[in-house]
Amino acid sequence: MTEPLALAYEERGSGPALVFIHGFPFDRRMWIGQLSGLAKVRRCVALDLRGHGLSQLEETDPTFSMDLFADDIAATMDDIGVEQADICGLSMGGYVAFAFWRRHRARVRSLILCDTKSEADSDEGKAGREKTAQLVKEQGMETLYENLGPKLLGTDPSDEVQELLKDMFLATPPGVAAADSLAMRDRADSTPDLAGIDVPVLWLHGDADQLMPVDGARATAEKIPGATFVAVPGGGHVAPMEQTKFANDALTEFLKKK
Ligand code: MLT
Repeated sequence: MTEPLALAYEERGSGPALVFIHGFPFDRRMWIGQLSGLAKVRRCVALDLRGHGLSQLEETDPTFSMDLFADDIAATMDDIGVEQADICGLSMGGYVAFAFWRRHRARVRSLILCDTKSEADSDEGKAGREKTAQLVKEQGMETLYENLGPKLLGTDPSDEVQELLKDMFLATPPGVAAADSLAMRDRADSTPDLAGIDVPVLWLHGDADQLMPVDGARATAEKIPGATFVAVPGGGHVAPMEQTKFANDALTEFLKKK
């Protein structure tokens, strides 16, 4: 069995910890706007999941799971002396946040779920994950960016956001993206967990998210007792990157209440 790994991270600010988990196929840099905007209210820690960003692996053909990613986060929290944290994940990072909740719930002060979903993949979705894994291995990350990149953006993405997005795609090794894709194929359905989540929850979702439509996300959030749902105007699938001020204001209001 693969052992949990202490991950690379970037941090800003002081106080209670807020751990950020990136989506696919990104890295910690997607949270740069949150690190600078929220440093006054939290010790903000943005992680690179294994194989991503600075958490490089020697193996070129690794195998991942959402559970393994979650255990890596717990190991990283041990490493940096954080017992409990607000856990914030976007998309695949949200799947990891759900796995973290199942496996390490005593370490969760609150959950912040961004542009994600609770359901597992359908059979068609699973087949799509296998195609993605094959595509990146055969044709590389540029092709995946051309196919997927435009679908991640909302109504008014800045050049800076588009450049960073592309950069993160191209910085992800194809073997890592393939392993992410297969790990997402195999992820558990988190829907049965929703009713039992008993920590404060903020669900932030771009109202122009093309990959995960906002109405479905709102309906999912309604299954979590007391959850706050905030639709980000004009935000796509990477709403906190695109609409940083709006997202940071919502996050600050949520975090200050606790
Ligand atoms: C992500 O942004 O992490 C992915 O779009 C998630 C997914 O493909 O399910």
